[in-house]
Amino acid sequence: TDAFKKMAHRPPFRPISPSDQDKLVLPKGFRQDLIAAWGDDIGNGEKFGYNCDLTVYFPINGSSKHGLLWVNHEYIGTGALFMYDADTPEAEKHAIEQYNVGGSVIEIKLSDGKWRLVKGSRYARRITANTMMELTGPARGDAVVGGVHKVKGTFANCSGGRTLWDTVLTCEENFEEDAKRWGRNDTHYGWVVEVDPFDPSSTPQKHTALGRFSHENAAMTLSKDGRLVVYMGDDSNDQYFYKYVSKKKYQPSRGKDNRYLLSEGTLYVANLADGKWMPLDLEQSPALKAKFKTQGEVLVHTRDAAKLVGATPLDRPEDVEINPRDGSVYLALTNNTNHGNFHGQILRLIEDGDDAAAKRFVFEVFAVGGRQSGFSCPDNLLFDKQGNLWVCTDISSGKMNKDNTYELFKNNGLFFIATQGRQAGEAFQFASGPREAEMTGPDFTPDQRTLFIAVQHPGEETKDPKNPTSHWPYGDIPRPAVVAIRGF
Ligand code: FEO
Ligand code: CA
Ligand code: CA
Ligand code: CA
Repeated sequence: TDAFKKMAHRPPFRPISPSDQDKLVLPKGFRQDLIAAWGDDIGNGEKFGYNCDLTVYFPINGSSKHGLLWVNHEYIGTGALFMYDADTPEAEKHAIEQYNVGGSVIEIKLSDGKWRLVKGSRYARRITANTMMELTGPARGDAVVGGVHKVKGTFANCSGGRTLWDTVLTCEENFEEDAKRWGRNDTHYGWVVEVDPFDPSSTPQKHTALGRFSHENAAMTLSKDGRLVVYMGDDSNDQYFYKYVSKKKYQPSRGKDNRYLLSEGTLYVANLADGKWMPLDLEQSPALKAKFKTQGEVLVHTRDAAKLVGATPLDRPEDVEINPRDGSVYLALTNNTNHGNFHGQILRLIEDGDDAAAKRFVFEVFAVGGRQSGFSCPDNLLFDKQGNLWVCTDISSGKMNKDNTYELFKNNGLFFIATQGRQAGEAFQFASGPREAEMTGPDFTPDQRTLFIAVQHPGEETKDPKNPTSHWPYGDIPRPAVVAIRGF
Protein backbone atom coordinates (compact mmCIF):
# COMPACT_ATOMS: atom_id res chain seq x y z
CA THR A 1 0.00 0.00 0.00
CA ASP A 2 2.66 2.49 1.02
CA ALA A 3 4.76 1.76 -2.03
CA PHE A 4 1.76 2.54 -4.16
CA LYS A 5 0.80 5.73 -2.32
CA LYS A 6 4.25 7.22 -2.86
CA MET A 7 3.65 6.90 -6.57
CA ALA A 8 0.41 8.88 -6.56
CA HIS A 9 -0.01 10.71 -9.88
CA ARG A 10 3.07 9.09 -11.37
CA PRO A 11 3.15 5.64 -12.99
CA PRO A 12 4.19 3.06 -10.35
CA PHE A 13 6.26 1.19 -12.98
CA ARG A 14 8.75 1.73 -15.81
CA PRO A 15 6.61 1.97 -18.95
CA ILE A 16 6.97 -0.69 -21.64
CA SER A 17 7.06 -0.16 -25.41
CA PRO A 18 4.35 -1.42 -27.77
CA SER A 19 4.88 -5.13 -28.40
CA ASP A 20 3.80 -7.63 -31.04
CA GLN A 21 4.99 -10.64 -29.06
CA ASP A 22 2.57 -13.46 -28.38
CA LYS A 23 2.70 -12.99 -24.64
CA LEU A 24 1.51 -10.83 -21.80
CA VAL A 25 4.35 -8.32 -21.46
CA LEU A 26 4.75 -6.43 -18.15
CA PRO A 27 7.25 -3.88 -16.86
CA LYS A 28 10.34 -5.10 -15.04
CA GLY A 29 9.69 -6.22 -11.48
CA PHE A 30 6.13 -7.44 -12.04
CA ARG A 31 5.01 -11.05 -12.02
CA GLN A 32 1.94 -12.74 -13.43
CA ASP A 33 0.03 -15.74 -12.12
CA LEU A 34 -2.36 -17.46 -14.48
CA ILE A 35 -5.42 -18.09 -12.31
CA ALA A 36 -7.83 -19.76 -14.72
CA ALA A 37 -7.95 -20.36 -18.46
CA TRP A 38 -10.79 -21.52 -20.68
CA GLY A 39 -11.71 -25.14 -19.94
CA ASP A 40 -10.03 -25.29 -16.51
CA ASP A 41 -11.92 -26.95 -13.67
CA ILE A 42 -13.08 -24.09 -11.41
CA GLY A 43 -12.88 -26.30 -8.36
CA ASN A 44 -16.25 -28.04 -8.42
CA GLY A 45 -16.05 -30.00 -11.68
CA GLU A 46 -17.48 -27.11 -13.74
CA LYS A 47 -15.37 -25.54 -16.46
CA PHE A 48 -14.17 -21.95 -16.82
CA GLY A 49 -15.95 -20.31 -19.75
CA TYR A 50 -14.69 -18.57 -22.88
CA ASN A 51 -13.70 -14.95 -23.70
CA CYS A 52 -13.26 -13.53 -20.20
CA ASP A 53 -14.16 -9.89 -19.74
CA LEU A 54 -15.13 -8.07 -16.52
CA THR A 55 -13.35 -9.21 -13.35
CA VAL A 56 -14.56 -8.08 -9.90
CA TYR A 57 -12.69 -9.05 -6.75
CA PHE A 58 -14.76 -9.57 -3.58
CA PRO A 59 -12.61 -9.83 -0.43
CA ILE A 60 -13.44 -12.57 2.07
CA ASN A 61 -13.29 -11.00 5.56
CA GLY A 62 -11.73 -7.87 4.05
CA SER A 63 -8.68 -9.77 2.78
CA SER A 64 -6.56 -8.73 -0.20
CA LYS A 65 -5.14 -12.27 -0.28
CA HIS A 66 -8.29 -14.35 -0.26
CA GLY A 67 -11.54 -13.61 -2.04
CA LEU A 68 -14.01 -14.40 -4.76
CA LEU A 69 -13.46 -13.33 -8.32
CA TRP A 70 -16.37 -12.82 -10.66
CA VAL A 71 -15.42 -13.21 -14.34
CA ASN A 72 -17.64 -12.47 -17.35
CA HIS A 73 -17.54 -14.84 -20.34
CA GLU A 74 -18.70 -12.63 -23.15
CA TYR A 75 -18.96 -14.61 -26.39
CA ILE A 76 -17.58 -17.52 -28.42
CA GLY A 77 -16.46 -15.99 -31.73
CA THR A 78 -13.45 -17.78 -33.21
CA GLY A 79 -13.48 -20.02 -30.13
CA ALA A 80 -16.00 -22.20 -31.98
CA LEU A 81 -13.05 -23.58 -33.99
CA PHE A 82 -11.63 -25.09 -30.81
CA MET A 83 -14.90 -26.23 -29.20
CA TYR A 84 -16.38 -28.59 -31.74
CA ASP A 85 -15.95 -30.05 -35.22
CA ALA A 86 -17.76 -28.40 -38.10
CA ASP A 87 -19.94 -31.52 -38.56
CA THR A 88 -21.24 -31.49 -34.96
CA PRO A 89 -25.08 -31.42 -34.94
CA GLU A 90 -26.43 -27.87 -34.60
CA ALA A 91 -28.23 -28.50 -31.28
CA GLU A 92 -25.03 -29.84 -29.74
CA LYS A 93 -23.07 -26.81 -30.96
CA HIS A 94 -25.57 -24.51 -29.34
CA ALA A 95 -25.41 -26.39 -26.03
CA ILE A 96 -21.60 -26.12 -25.99
CA GLU A 97 -21.73 -22.41 -26.81
CA GLN A 98 -24.41 -21.71 -24.21
CA TYR A 99 -22.33 -23.39 -21.51
CA ASN A 100 -19.21 -21.39 -22.34
CA VAL A 101 -20.75 -17.91 -21.95
CA GLY A 102 -22.20 -16.06 -18.94
CA GLY A 103 -19.85 -15.87 -15.97
CA SER A 104 -17.84 -17.71 -13.34
CA VAL A 105 -17.49 -17.27 -9.60
CA ILE A 106 -14.13 -18.60 -8.46
CA GLU A 107 -12.50 -18.59 -5.04
CA ILE A 108 -8.86 -17.50 -5.12
CA LYS A 109 -6.06 -17.25 -2.63
CA LEU A 110 -2.56 -15.78 -2.50
CA SER A 111 -0.24 -18.21 -0.73
CA ASP A 112 3.44 -19.12 -1.09
CA GLY A 113 3.82 -16.07 -3.31
CA LYS A 114 1.29 -17.18 -5.91
CA TRP A 115 -2.41 -16.62 -6.63
CA ARG A 116 -4.29 -19.88 -7.09
CA LEU A 117 -7.82 -21.09 -7.52
CA VAL A 118 -9.21 -22.82 -4.40
CA LYS A 119 -10.25 -26.39 -5.21
CA GLY A 120 -13.50 -27.69 -3.75
CA SER A 121 -14.72 -24.15 -3.04
CA ARG A 122 -18.29 -23.87 -1.77
CA TYR A 123 -18.67 -20.64 -3.77
CA ALA A 124 -17.53 -21.90 -7.19
CA ARG A 125 -20.35 -21.43 -9.67
CA ARG A 126 -20.99 -21.19 -13.37
CA ILE A 127 -23.72 -18.93 -14.65
CA THR A 128 -24.54 -19.78 -18.26
CA ALA A 129 -26.94 -18.91 -21.07
CA ASN A 130 -29.24 -21.52 -19.50
CA THR A 131 -29.30 -20.41 -15.83
CA MET A 132 -32.83 -19.31 -14.85
CA MET A 133 -33.12 -15.65 -13.85
CA GLU A 134 -35.75 -13.30 -12.54
CA LEU A 135 -36.87 -10.05 -14.17
CA THR A 136 -37.38 -7.05 -11.87
CA GLY A 137 -38.75 -3.58 -12.58
CA PRO A 138 -41.33 -2.16 -15.01
CA ALA A 139 -40.83 -4.69 -17.84
CA ARG A 140 -41.36 -7.72 -15.55
CA GLY A 141 -44.56 -9.45 -16.64
CA ASP A 142 -45.27 -6.81 -19.34
CA ALA A 143 -46.73 -8.11 -22.59
CA VAL A 144 -43.69 -6.61 -24.36
CA VAL A 145 -41.49 -9.40 -22.87
CA GLY A 146 -44.19 -12.05 -23.40
CA GLY A 147 -45.73 -11.50 -19.95
CA VAL A 148 -43.00 -13.50 -18.17
CA HIS A 149 -41.37 -13.02 -14.77
CA LYS A 150 -38.52 -15.48 -15.40
CA VAL A 151 -36.14 -15.78 -18.34
CA LYS A 152 -33.46 -18.21 -19.42
CA GLY A 153 -29.81 -17.35 -19.00
CA THR A 154 -27.42 -14.51 -19.70
CA PHE A 155 -24.88 -14.02 -22.49
CA ALA A 156 -22.89 -11.28 -24.24
CA ASN A 157 -21.64 -10.34 -20.74
CA CYS A 158 -19.19 -7.59 -21.53
CA SER A 159 -18.20 -5.35 -18.64
CA GLY A 160 -20.22 -4.38 -15.58
CA GLY A 161 -19.53 -3.22 -12.08
CA ARG A 162 -19.93 -3.82 -8.40
CA THR A 163 -22.80 -2.76 -6.16
CA LEU A 164 -22.39 -1.05 -2.79
CA TRP A 165 -23.64 -4.30 -1.18
CA ASP A 166 -21.06 -6.71 -2.62
CA THR A 167 -22.82 -8.18 -5.60
CA VAL A 168 -21.83 -7.92 -9.26
CA LEU A 169 -23.66 -6.21 -12.11
CA THR A 170 -22.88 -8.04 -15.34
CA CYS A 171 -23.94 -6.28 -18.53
CA GLU A 172 -25.49 -7.93 -21.59
CA GLU A 173 -23.98 -6.24 -24.64
CA ASN A 174 -24.16 -7.64 -28.19
CA PHE A 175 -26.86 -10.25 -27.67
CA GLU A 176 -28.73 -10.01 -31.00
CA GLU A 177 -26.83 -12.55 -33.07
CA ASP A 178 -26.78 -15.36 -30.50
CA ALA A 179 -30.37 -14.71 -29.41
CA LYS A 180 -31.40 -15.20 -33.02
CA ARG A 181 -29.27 -18.30 -33.61
CA TRP A 182 -30.42 -19.95 -30.39
CA GLY A 183 -34.06 -19.09 -30.98
CA ARG A 184 -34.41 -16.88 -27.89
CA ASN A 185 -36.88 -14.04 -27.36
CA ASP A 186 -34.53 -11.09 -27.76
CA THR A 187 -36.52 -8.89 -25.36
CA HIS A 188 -35.14 -11.12 -22.57
CA TYR A 189 -31.57 -9.91 -23.22
CA GLY A 190 -29.73 -6.60 -23.27
CA TRP A 191 -30.24 -5.99 -19.53
CA VAL A 192 -28.08 -5.38 -16.49
CA VAL A 193 -27.94 -8.61 -14.45
CA GLU A 194 -27.18 -8.79 -10.72
CA VAL A 195 -25.47 -11.87 -9.29
CA ASP A 196 -24.60 -12.52 -5.63
CA PRO A 197 -21.24 -14.34 -5.72
CA PHE A 198 -21.48 -15.27 -2.02
CA ASP A 199 -24.71 -17.23 -2.44
CA PRO A 200 -24.35 -20.05 -5.00
CA SER A 201 -28.06 -20.88 -4.78
CA SER A 202 -29.23 -17.30 -5.46
CA THR A 203 -31.28 -16.51 -8.57
CA PRO A 204 -29.69 -13.78 -10.71
CA GLN A 205 -31.90 -10.74 -11.34
CA LYS A 206 -32.26 -8.77 -14.56
CA HIS A 207 -33.06 -5.19 -13.61
CA THR A 208 -35.26 -3.85 -16.39
CA ALA A 209 -35.46 -0.36 -14.82
CA LEU A 210 -31.89 0.19 -16.09
CA GLY A 211 -32.98 -0.15 -19.72
CA ARG A 212 -32.29 -2.51 -22.56
CA PHE A 213 -29.48 -1.82 -25.03
CA SER A 214 -25.91 -3.01 -25.70
CA HIS A 215 -24.91 -2.52 -22.07
CA GLU A 216 -21.17 -2.14 -21.67
CA ASN A 217 -20.96 -1.49 -17.94
CA ALA A 218 -22.59 -0.12 -14.80
CA ALA A 219 -20.75 2.31 -12.50
CA MET A 220 -22.55 2.86 -9.19
CA THR A 221 -22.35 5.78 -6.79
CA LEU A 222 -24.59 7.83 -4.47
CA SER A 223 -26.22 11.22 -4.97
CA LYS A 224 -25.80 13.99 -2.40
CA ASP A 225 -29.07 12.94 -0.75
CA GLY A 226 -28.18 9.24 -0.70
CA ARG A 227 -30.01 7.90 -3.75
CA LEU A 228 -28.34 5.31 -5.91
CA VAL A 229 -26.94 6.44 -9.27
CA VAL A 230 -25.70 4.08 -11.99
CA TYR A 231 -23.87 5.32 -15.11
CA MET A 232 -24.03 3.15 -18.24
CA GLY A 233 -22.64 3.14 -21.78
CA ASP A 234 -24.24 1.61 -24.90
CA ASP A 235 -21.45 0.23 -27.06
CA SER A 236 -22.53 0.87 -30.64
CA ASN A 237 -21.77 3.54 -33.19
CA ASP A 238 -23.94 6.61 -32.56
CA GLN A 239 -25.57 5.29 -29.39
CA TYR A 240 -26.09 7.06 -26.08
CA PHE A 241 -24.90 7.56 -22.53
CA TYR A 242 -27.31 6.82 -19.66
CA LYS A 243 -27.72 7.15 -15.92
CA TYR A 244 -30.25 5.62 -13.56
CA VAL A 245 -31.33 7.32 -10.33
CA SER A 246 -33.22 5.29 -7.71
CA LYS A 247 -36.42 6.62 -6.19
CA LYS A 248 -35.47 5.80 -2.63
CA LYS A 249 -32.27 6.17 -0.62
CA TYR A 250 -29.52 3.67 0.01
CA GLN A 251 -29.48 2.31 3.57
CA PRO A 252 -26.17 0.59 4.41
CA SER A 253 -27.76 -1.35 7.27
CA ARG A 254 -30.13 -3.07 4.82
CA GLY A 255 -27.20 -4.78 3.05
CA LYS A 256 -28.27 -6.89 0.08
CA ASP A 257 -31.90 -5.86 0.44
CA ASN A 258 -30.86 -2.56 -1.13
CA ARG A 259 -31.16 -4.31 -4.49
CA TYR A 260 -34.82 -3.23 -4.58
CA LEU A 261 -33.43 0.25 -5.40
CA LEU A 262 -32.57 -1.11 -8.85
CA SER A 263 -36.19 -1.79 -9.69
CA GLU A 264 -37.73 1.59 -8.87
CA GLY A 265 -36.23 4.78 -10.26
CA THR A 266 -35.72 6.95 -13.34
CA LEU A 267 -33.53 6.21 -16.33
CA TYR A 268 -32.00 9.31 -17.98
CA VAL A 269 -30.11 9.75 -21.23
CA ALA A 270 -27.49 12.43 -21.91
CA ASN A 271 -28.05 15.35 -24.24
CA LEU A 272 -24.50 16.71 -24.50
CA ALA A 273 -25.43 19.66 -26.68
CA ASP A 274 -27.62 21.11 -23.91
CA GLY A 275 -25.76 19.54 -20.97
CA LYS A 276 -29.00 17.93 -19.80
CA TRP A 277 -30.14 14.55 -18.52
CA MET A 278 -33.43 13.64 -20.24
CA PRO A 279 -35.78 11.31 -18.33
CA LEU A 280 -37.01 8.20 -20.16
CA ASP A 281 -40.23 8.06 -18.25
CA LEU A 282 -43.76 8.16 -19.61
CA GLU A 283 -44.92 10.61 -16.94
CA GLN A 284 -41.92 12.95 -17.03
CA SER A 285 -41.45 12.96 -20.83
CA PRO A 286 -44.97 13.04 -22.37
CA ALA A 287 -43.44 12.92 -25.88
CA LEU A 288 -42.87 9.20 -25.24
CA LYS A 289 -46.62 8.59 -25.08
CA ALA A 290 -46.87 8.98 -28.85
CA LYS A 291 -44.94 5.74 -29.23
CA PHE A 292 -45.18 3.70 -26.01
CA LYS A 293 -48.13 2.53 -23.94
CA THR A 294 -46.29 1.21 -20.87
CA GLN A 295 -43.04 2.00 -19.06
CA GLY A 296 -42.06 -1.63 -19.80
CA GLU A 297 -42.23 -0.79 -23.53
CA VAL A 298 -40.11 2.33 -23.02
CA LEU A 299 -37.43 0.25 -21.29
CA VAL A 300 -37.44 -2.63 -23.80
CA HIS A 301 -37.01 -0.07 -26.59
CA THR A 302 -34.65 2.22 -24.70
CA ARG A 303 -32.73 3.37 -27.79
CA ASP A 304 -35.90 4.47 -29.60
CA ALA A 305 -37.10 6.30 -26.50
CA ALA A 306 -33.70 8.01 -26.10
CA LYS A 307 -33.78 9.17 -29.70
CA LEU A 308 -37.27 10.59 -29.22
CA VAL A 309 -36.20 12.80 -26.30
CA GLY A 310 -33.16 14.20 -28.15
CA ALA A 311 -30.22 12.15 -26.80
CA THR A 312 -26.78 12.89 -28.30
CA PRO A 313 -25.30 10.09 -30.43
CA LEU A 314 -21.74 9.22 -29.44
CA ASP A 315 -18.79 7.33 -30.90
CA ARG A 316 -19.28 3.97 -29.15
CA PRO A 317 -19.71 4.91 -25.49
CA GLU A 318 -18.13 1.97 -23.65
CA ASP A 319 -16.84 1.88 -20.10
CA VAL A 320 -17.72 4.57 -17.56
CA GLU A 321 -15.97 5.07 -14.22
CA ILE A 322 -16.24 7.59 -11.42
CA ASN A 323 -13.09 9.33 -10.20
CA PRO A 324 -12.97 8.59 -6.45
CA ARG A 325 -11.15 11.88 -5.79
CA ASP A 326 -13.76 14.29 -7.13
CA GLY A 327 -16.78 12.30 -8.33
CA SER A 328 -16.35 13.35 -11.95
CA VAL A 329 -17.42 10.76 -14.51
CA TYR A 330 -15.11 9.39 -17.22
CA LEU A 331 -16.55 7.84 -20.37
CA ALA A 332 -14.55 5.94 -22.99
CA LEU A 333 -15.58 6.62 -26.59
CA THR A 334 -13.77 3.78 -28.31
CA ASN A 335 -13.99 4.98 -31.90
CA ASN A 336 -16.38 5.44 -34.79
CA THR A 337 -14.69 4.53 -38.03
CA ASN A 338 -17.83 5.65 -39.94
CA HIS A 339 -16.93 9.22 -38.92
CA GLY A 340 -13.18 8.75 -39.37
CA ASN A 341 -12.75 8.71 -35.57
CA PHE A 342 -10.21 5.87 -35.50
CA HIS A 343 -8.58 6.38 -32.12
CA GLY A 344 -11.35 7.51 -29.77
CA GLN A 345 -11.44 9.81 -26.75
CA ILE A 346 -12.11 9.79 -23.04
CA LEU A 347 -14.73 12.34 -21.93
CA ARG A 348 -15.01 13.78 -18.43
CA LEU A 349 -18.42 14.87 -17.13
CA ILE A 350 -18.93 17.12 -14.15
CA GLU A 351 -22.40 17.03 -12.67
CA ASP A 352 -24.06 20.25 -11.55
CA GLY A 353 -23.13 20.89 -7.90
CA ASP A 354 -21.02 17.69 -8.03
CA ASP A 355 -24.26 15.82 -7.40
CA ALA A 356 -24.62 12.51 -9.27
CA ALA A 357 -28.42 12.97 -9.35
CA ALA A 358 -28.16 16.42 -11.00
CA LYS A 359 -30.29 17.17 -14.07
CA ARG A 360 -27.49 19.17 -15.75
CA PHE A 361 -23.78 18.68 -16.40
CA VAL A 362 -20.80 20.03 -18.29
CA PHE A 363 -18.13 17.97 -20.03
CA GLU A 364 -14.62 18.19 -21.43
CA VAL A 365 -12.39 15.92 -23.50
CA PHE A 366 -9.95 14.44 -20.98
CA ALA A 367 -7.70 12.45 -23.36
CA VAL A 368 -7.59 11.79 -27.09
CA GLY A 369 -6.33 8.54 -28.61
CA GLY A 370 -3.81 8.67 -31.44
CA ARG A 371 -0.12 8.92 -32.30
CA GLN A 372 0.43 11.84 -29.99
CA SER A 373 -0.92 10.14 -26.87
CA GLY A 374 0.40 6.66 -27.67
CA PHE A 375 -2.86 4.77 -27.09
CA SER A 376 -5.81 4.07 -29.37
CA CYS A 377 -9.41 2.87 -28.90
CA PRO A 378 -9.95 3.19 -25.12
CA ASP A 379 -12.43 0.65 -23.80
CA ASN A 380 -12.31 -0.66 -20.20
CA LEU A 381 -11.46 1.91 -17.53
CA LEU A 382 -10.48 1.49 -13.87
CA PHE A 383 -9.64 4.09 -11.22
CA ASP A 384 -7.18 3.38 -8.45
CA LYS A 385 -7.75 5.01 -5.05
CA GLN A 386 -5.36 7.84 -5.90
CA GLY A 387 -7.58 8.80 -8.84
CA ASN A 388 -5.28 7.54 -11.60
CA LEU A 389 -7.01 6.04 -14.58
CA TRP A 390 -6.06 2.62 -16.00
CA VAL A 391 -7.21 2.20 -19.59
CA CYS A 392 -7.48 -0.97 -21.69
CA THR A 393 -7.38 -0.53 -25.43
CA ASP A 394 -9.49 -2.38 -27.96
CA ILE A 395 -8.18 -2.00 -31.48
CA SER A 396 -10.07 -4.74 -33.27
CA SER A 397 -7.59 -7.21 -34.72
CA GLY A 398 -9.43 -7.44 -38.02
CA LYS A 399 -8.81 -3.73 -38.54
CA MET A 400 -5.27 -3.94 -37.24
CA ASN A 401 -4.35 -6.52 -39.85
CA LYS A 402 -6.13 -4.87 -42.77
CA ASP A 403 -4.63 -1.40 -42.98
CA ASN A 404 -1.76 0.40 -41.29
CA THR A 405 -3.85 2.89 -39.28
CA TYR A 406 -2.98 1.01 -36.12
CA GLU A 407 0.50 -0.30 -36.98
CA LEU A 408 2.21 1.96 -34.47
CA PHE A 409 0.27 0.64 -31.49
CA LYS A 410 0.95 -3.08 -32.02
CA ASN A 411 -0.94 -5.41 -29.64
CA ASN A 412 -3.67 -4.12 -27.34
CA GLY A 413 -2.54 -3.12 -23.90
CA LEU A 414 -3.20 -1.48 -20.58
CA PHE A 415 -2.19 2.15 -19.96
CA PHE A 416 -1.84 4.39 -16.91
CA ILE A 417 -3.07 8.00 -17.10
CA ALA A 418 -2.85 10.35 -14.11
CA THR A 419 -5.78 12.74 -13.71
CA GLN A 420 -3.84 15.16 -11.49
CA GLY A 421 -0.31 16.46 -11.20
CA ARG A 422 2.23 17.46 -13.83
CA GLN A 423 1.75 14.38 -15.99
CA ALA A 424 -2.06 14.46 -16.01
CA GLY A 425 -3.49 13.21 -19.29
CA GLU A 426 -0.27 11.52 -20.44
CA ALA A 427 -0.49 7.78 -21.14
CA PHE A 428 2.13 5.25 -20.01
CA GLN A 429 1.95 1.65 -21.14
CA PHE A 430 1.85 -0.94 -18.35
CA ALA A 431 0.99 -4.16 -20.20
CA SER A 432 0.78 -5.57 -23.72
CA GLY A 433 -1.42 -8.55 -24.51
CA PRO A 434 -0.75 -11.64 -26.61
CA ARG A 435 -1.54 -11.63 -30.34
CA GLU A 436 -5.00 -10.45 -31.39
CA ALA A 437 -6.11 -10.24 -27.75
CA GLU A 438 -7.80 -7.46 -25.87
CA MET A 439 -7.08 -6.84 -22.22
CA THR A 440 -10.34 -6.50 -20.34
CA GLY A 441 -11.98 -6.11 -16.95
CA PRO A 442 -9.10 -4.90 -14.78
CA ASP A 443 -9.66 -4.77 -11.02
CA PHE A 444 -7.41 -4.18 -7.99
CA THR A 445 -7.48 -5.87 -4.61
CA PRO A 446 -8.32 -3.31 -1.87
CA ASP A 447 -4.61 -3.00 -0.95
CA GLN A 448 -3.77 -2.35 -4.63
CA ARG A 449 -0.96 -4.86 -4.55
CA THR A 450 -2.66 -7.17 -7.04
CA LEU A 451 -4.22 -6.25 -10.35
CA PHE A 452 -6.50 -8.79 -12.03
CA ILE A 453 -6.85 -8.70 -15.76
CA ALA A 454 -8.63 -10.82 -18.33
CA VAL A 455 -7.05 -11.68 -21.65
CA GLN A 456 -9.84 -11.92 -24.19
CA HIS A 457 -9.87 -13.44 -27.68
CA PRO A 458 -6.14 -14.24 -28.17
CA GLY A 459 -5.62 -15.59 -31.71
CA GLU A 460 -9.05 -14.44 -32.88
CA GLU A 461 -7.95 -14.27 -36.53
CA THR A 462 -7.30 -18.03 -36.57
CA LYS A 463 -8.80 -19.76 -39.62
CA ASP A 464 -7.42 -23.27 -39.09
CA PRO A 465 -7.57 -24.63 -35.52
CA LYS A 466 -4.46 -26.73 -36.20
CA ASN A 467 -2.54 -23.58 -37.04
CA PRO A 468 -3.66 -20.91 -34.56
CA THR A 469 -2.40 -17.33 -34.75
CA SER A 470 -1.71 -17.28 -30.98
CA HIS A 471 -0.49 -20.04 -28.67
CA TRP A 472 -1.03 -18.15 -25.42
CA PRO A 473 -0.95 -19.16 -22.59
CA TYR A 474 0.06 -22.86 -22.71
CA GLY A 475 1.80 -23.11 -26.09
CA ASP A 476 -0.93 -25.05 -27.88
CA ILE A 477 -4.26 -23.45 -28.77
CA PRO A 478 -5.11 -19.90 -27.62
CA ARG A 479 -7.19 -19.74 -24.42
CA PRO A 480 -8.82 -16.68 -22.90
CA ALA A 481 -7.68 -16.49 -19.27
CA VAL A 482 -7.55 -14.43 -16.11
CA VAL A 483 -4.20 -13.34 -14.70
CA ALA A 484 -3.15 -11.81 -11.36
CA ILE A 485 -0.35 -9.24 -11.60
CA ARG A 486 1.82 -8.30 -8.62
CA GLY A 487 4.81 -6.09 -7.97
CA PHE A 488 3.21 -2.76 -7.02
FE1 FEO B 1 -17.83 -6.06 -25.36
FE2 FEO B 1 -17.99 -2.98 -25.70
O1 FEO B 1 -17.01 -4.44 -25.65
CA1 CA C 1 -15.66 -3.75 -23.74
CA1 CA D 1 -14.37 -0.53 -15.68
CA1 CA E 1 -14.37 -4.53 -26.74
